[in-house]
Amino acid sequence: MSSSGRKLIPALALAFVAAFATGCAAENYPQSIFDPVTDLAVRVNDLFAGVFWWTMLVLAVVWIGLVFILIRYRDRPGAQPRKIYGSNIAEILWTLGPALIVISILVPTVRTIFYTYERPENPLLVEAVGHQWWWEFRYPELGITTANQLYLPAGKPIEVRLSSSDVVHNWWVPAFGGKRYNHPVTPVVDGAPTKKDYNVLYFTVDRPGEYPGQCAEFCGTSHALMRMLVVVQEPDEFEEWVERQRAPQVGLPAEFRTAEGEAPVGMAEVLARPAEELSLEAQGYQVFVRAGCAACHTIDGTSAVGVLGPNLTNVGARWTIGAGVMSNTRENMLSWVRNAPEHKPDVKMTPFTHLSDSELDALAAYLVSLK
Ligand code: CUA
Repeated sequence: MSSSGRKLIPALALAFVAAFATGCAAENYPQSIFDPVTDLAVRVNDLFAGVFWWTMLVLAVVWIGLVFILIRYRDRPGAQPRKIYGSNIAEILWTLGPALIVISILVPTVRTIFYTYERPENPLLVEAVGHQWWWEFRYPELGITTANQLYLPAGKPIEVRLSSSDVVHNWWVPAFGGKRYNHPVTPVVDGAPTKKDYNVLYFTVDRPGEYPGQCAEFCGTSHALMRMLVVVQEPDEFEEWVERQRAPQVGLPAEFRTAEGEAPVGMAEVLARPAEELSLEAQGYQVFVRAGCAACHTIDGTSAVGVLGPNLTNVGARWTIGAGVMSNTRENMLSWVRNAPEHKPDVKMTPFTHLSDSELDALAAYLVSLK
């Protein structure tokens, strides 16, 4: 062996050990499929493990046989190979062996496929709509719409109906198992899934936690910035979240709230209030109204009912801005509102560079206060 070859071996061994050592730190990989938290993911993982060990068996048999034959039947002077053409034993063995392996893979695979399409009883219905480049989550039975951050109760069967408002996207939360396409169709919202042209995922999450996910189909410039976070809570915590989302006047700063039964404060009245009388958040709400944000966004409890962009109800509680672009702070929110395409190429949110720094600051303060 050459001297450079001798040096290469320890270097390769070191790289191998390093790769293994870093691979062991599972907590550094929140989007791993090897820590399943749903019945669906457990099933899929078991299937994967079964197929994996069958292939390992084949690999071992082939390699051991190969090494044995290479040594035992190597070229030697005068040696003549025995002819095995027409051997019934050999023919039967290499037909039956692979057939058994294929059946051992086929049966659990088909059973798992059927399991994934079995609708559980009384599931919580969620519609996950892909948009370029963010996720809309609707709970038709609860009257809630949110974006990018999905809340689910642990231990309750979930039905996720997958669709898209534009191009093909792909739902993937690795810890939940099941990666499935969002096709550009409108899901049926009457509760009875009769029109099966949207994809569906059924699962029950077995433990609370935060599980990141990601669009897994290339869908345009900012495909890599189409992330989501699924927050799984104990059922009573989830109920509290539902109540928070549905609270009357949830999106209004205190100054603009009215008592129960009273008429809501009109837009003209909101804009007429002198800014110096108002908190920064309330000034931000004035900017929100004046700048026309409602053309694209909804904030429950206000008159903003636009549906082109993400629903911003309680947007301050989300883990990031822009479906995973940056952390949800007032500074980042200001920067995002001023010029979103700078942070997320080709995003539909237009730059608001015509707003002054103080207007942007108030708007950002209002948005992050919504939680
Ligand atoms: Cu949506 Cu990639």
